[in-house]
Amino acid sequence: MSSASSEPSEFLAVVILGASGDLAQRKIYPALFALYCQGFLPASFKVYGYARSTFSPEEWGERILSRLTCRYTPAADCAAHMQSFMEHGVYRSGSYSEPSGFVAMREEIQRDAGGRLVHVLLYFALPSTVFPEAANMIGRAGWTGGPGFTGWMRCVMEKPFGRDLESFRRLTDELSGNFQESQIYRIDHYLGKEVVQNLLVLRFGNLIFEPFWNRHYVERIELSWYEDMGVGERGAYFDRYGIVRDVMQNHLLQMAALIGMEHPREVPGGVRDEKVKLLKSFSTALSEHCVLGQYEAGMLNGERHSAYTDEASVEVDSHTATYAECVLWANNARWAGVPFVLRAGKGCGERKTEIQLVFRETALNPFAGESGALGSNRLVIRVQPDEKIYLRVNTKRPGLAWTIDEQDLQLHYQSVFSEQIPDAYEALLLEVLKGDRSLFLRSDELEASWAIFTPLLHAMDENRVVVEKYAFGSMGPTGIFKP
Ligand code: NDP
Ligand code: BG6
Repeated sequence: MSSASSEPSEFLAVVILGASGDLAQRKIYPALFALYCQGFLPASFKVYGYARSTFSPEEWGERILSRLTCRYTPAADCAAHMQSFMEHGVYRSGSYSEPSGFVAMREEIQRDAGGRLVHVLLYFALPSTVFPEAANMIGRAGWTGGPGFTGWMRCVMEKPFGRDLESFRRLTDELSGNFQESQIYRIDHYLGKEVVQNLLVLRFGNLIFEPFWNRHYVERIELSWYEDMGVGERGAYFDRYGIVRDVMQNHLLQMAALIGMEHPREVPGGVRDEKVKLLKSFSTALSEHCVLGQYEAGMLNGERHSAYTDEASVEVDSHTATYAECVLWANNARWAGVPFVLRAGKGCGERKTEIQLVFRETALNPFAGESGALGSNRLVIRVQPDEKIYLRVNTKRPGLAWTIDEQDLQLHYQSVFSEQIPDAYEALLLEVLKGDRSLFLRSDELEASWAIFTPLLHAMDENRVVVEKYAFGSMGPTGIFKP
């Protein structure tokens, strides 16, 4: 199948490993439903959920149905769409330590396909520590090699890919026994976000930004990611990984790469080459250029929230950072001397992801006598929520005095566009169906990303970096470059 369009002679099996988990139920099933409603799934498809937990068909149906939304269907037709989508799905319980569950599923897929060409989209919605074992069982169950399936097989793998540079290399090596690199789609869902994709158009589809997109005009670049929730049900995972591995080494660094890279030869095809060059130009993150924090109990919107160390499945004496602010330096002609400030925090006062280019001061301020200091210009890219892009400029307030004020020239998505903003997983799953890996991570990209953070992560693992406390609901400890 060369596109997502349906062919009666073909059958698509979407297999979700870890189907009982948070990601599968909160993101993957709703994204598949959204694609189904818009006609992007082929006529003949089935979704096979797989995990160790057991559910009756009724329990399973209720779980999935409760997560689907009617964003793309007229309200009157929505229940019928949901019902028919559910008829395309089954849940199978099985193990990853022996192949029988995968043998049974392979046979079931082949029966369901009834002789048609079988394409398999295999989604690893599992902790990455389980990937090699799952991949081996899939291999032993005859999914790859030998007769296998007749069409393509594409494997979507979730982050974080390993814990550091060495474990990433080991993981890549272990997976290579069962899958070719061309079959692997390493997902970073921030690359599917609408505003993140628009960064490419903003930068490379407009002439006007290029002249000032460099060290001569930009004083610093800030990438801030805040969440107003704690770690919730994911305490056991988070306590082993921490905020740098969870968000900074991937989502923030990917956005930094899109902001900092040179012109690609084409979009999205040439983007990865340029991202890798930029990532390789970053020096390793130094602990003296980082501030780490961990939330303690605090109030947010009138509600009291527990300290991180009181969250379920978190060690009571944990030193895991829930906040990090790290300054990176790119050693290249465009950005030499310009700090890239990456900042990520859980348990903060608001949910917001934003990129800011803060420009240098004007060389001469002719309004100093009348109006005092001028504010620095900023280009602000609000990734979420309430997507917008605006340029903060100094402007004269109407009136008889030279009163200068900062105002925004703004593109506000909700005011300008009537279209639905797709969820990142919808956008990226569609790319997998098309067989386009441009928006997925290449192994050299991950090598470069882990190389930047591995020494810092090792120092953090050995408790060699101070972790300050901050109150839940605040914006983290006192950082290096607070806006
Ligand atoms: P979970 O921890 O909920 O794991 C998913 C499922 O995997 C579980 O329901 C469990 O199913 C199975 N599982 C867990 N541990 C093991 C184990 N040791 N051996 C075998 N199976 C296991 O993870 P999430 O759903 O939150 O995330 C899945 C993947 O996606 C992870 O790699 C995560 O880092 C990544 N991710 C998650 C995001 C999220 O928002 N949740 C966002 C971005 C990435 P069962 O016990 O039934 O077999
Ligand atoms: C995931 C992290 O990759 O991204 C989570 O593991 C985080 O900790 C999530 O909450 C945020 O995604 P989004 O799309 O809600 O910003």
